[in-house]
Amino acid sequence: MSTQHPILDTLRAIVGATHVLTDADGDLTAYEQDWRKRERGKALAVVRPASTDEVAAVVRACVAHKVALVPQGGNTGMVVGSTPDASGTQVVLNLTRLNRIRTIDAANLTVTVEAGCVLQTLQEACAAQGYLFPLSLAAEGSCTIGGNLATNAGGTQVVRYGNTRELCLGLEVVTAQGEVWHGLTGLRKDNTGYDLRHLFIGSEGTLGIITAATLRIYPQPVAQLTAFAALPSLDAAVQLLGLAHQHLHAGLTGFEVMADFAVGLVRKHFPQQRIPFAAAASPWYVVLENSDLESETHARTRFEALMEAAFEQGCITDAVIAENIAQAHALWHIRESVPLAQAQEGLNIKHDISLAVSRIPAFVAEMDALLAQHYPGVRLVNYGHLGDGNLHYNVQAPEGTNGEAFLLEQEGQVNTLVYDMVQRYSGSISAEHGIGSMKRDKLAHYKEPAALALMRSIKAALDPQGLLNPGKML
Ligand code: FAD
Ligand code: MLT
Ligand code: ZN
Repeated sequence: MSTQHPILDTLRAIVGATHVLTDADGDLTAYEQDWRKRERGKALAVVRPASTDEVAAVVRACVAHKVALVPQGGNTGMVVGSTPDASGTQVVLNLTRLNRIRTIDAANLTVTVEAGCVLQTLQEACAAQGYLFPLSLAAEGSCTIGGNLATNAGGTQVVRYGNTRELCLGLEVVTAQGEVWHGLTGLRKDNTGYDLRHLFIGSEGTLGIITAATLRIYPQPVAQLTAFAALPSLDAAVQLLGLAHQHLHAGLTGFEVMADFAVGLVRKHFPQQRIPFAAAASPWYVVLENSDLESETHARTRFEALMEAAFEQGCITDAVIAENIAQAHALWHIRESVPLAQAQEGLNIKHDISLAVSRIPAFVAEMDALLAQHYPGVRLVNYGHLGDGNLHYNVQAPEGTNGEAFLLEQEGQVNTLVYDMVQRYSGSISAEHGIGSMKRDKLAHYKEPAALALMRSIKAALDPQGLLNPGKML
């Protein structure tokens, strides 16, 4: 039926018939189902433009036909934001063909890149020219710069370089009317009114289509040291973070925490990985990274001083320090494998929360106790970006029980318990994954009414017809 819709011929004329996919062209699961397999939608068509002008023309066609658009990059998002609803009436606007790296401006320390460029491709292109593009996350082999910007992605280097928002100096955006805003200035200072780029960053495809961005790049560090440390408690991890800031200053580029159970899932599902500690050797682990712009000696001197202080104060009980880049990658790989191992373990209830770092140990103690009281035997897969006060406080069904049934029956109540506590601790219910359609009702419940009203006004002003990613976020 969908192949008959009158918009399809217009779309084919814009991007070429081979880049308009419908059911007749084969299996569209990769575009219609979210990464976590939480929902399967149905698209009217998947459209794959290759230039900004094509994106603008597609948007204008959708406006003319009153057809809603779902922008999509690598479809690695965690909150069902980049897939269509089940109506079969929405066009998926997949941007992965719009993927050129336009320029690297060495003097300005910026790179200008199209939205569909895969993050790892950009990292590698910058590295080949001696620069660092610091955004780093386990999905980097398939997530795109447009998706990173639209979700304001975090990842493992935020403690030093900030979220994607902090890395962005300019944007090119196709508006909901199909006009192009050319905002790729690359300026570090520009106070000519509202800073529009910040409206689109983190807007999850609800305000405009990001087609390109000018992003900060940095000199490559000359030395990097990575440690995998065992800790007696979460309090100790917070103490270690304080010491790391004191000793390493801006050299602290990664600080990730994992509970023993989370590491155990990697051990179980990826037995080929070498984990430096035995099961249950310690309740908590931290992956810590020091990047140095001076020299290997400078890096080692600082890192050793940090480790010495940490042992003396009892905040680490044991640690492995990578001897070379391959070992450092292997240690990072353990941390990056946690979400994949958790997905293998079965369906789970994810929470991507942020809190003041200082309040995290008290939150976790209180939350663990409350959940254990409600759900005896419940398994908590707790890990995340402690350096940014961001935990992935995930809840998995008790061992031997049906994960799917637990999710169906308990997700609502588990979420309420967790988010009510997050609110009591003045935290956020979404630190980095965003809202999508999964947390839309939660946003409405937990966000301050005045803030929600402002967000709705912005949406109405920029997308009055409500054609951009309807049903997501608001
Ligand atoms: P998609 O999933 O395709 O889209 C995400 C959202 O952005 C959707 O709302 C979509 O409509 C919108 N969008 C996409 N492209 C555009 C565009 N060009 N213009 C406008 N809107 C657009 N996230 C983190 O923050 N930190 C992590 O550490 C992290 N680790 C991850 C690890 C794994 C294994 C996986 C699977 C995911 C992880 N994520 C993480 C989540 C996800 O990878 C990020 O949110 C990523 O930024 C999404 O990029 P994408 O290209 O896949 O976007
Ligand atoms: C991570 O930090 O590993 C990601 O945000 C993904 C996840 O939490 O599943
Ligand atoms: Zn994360």
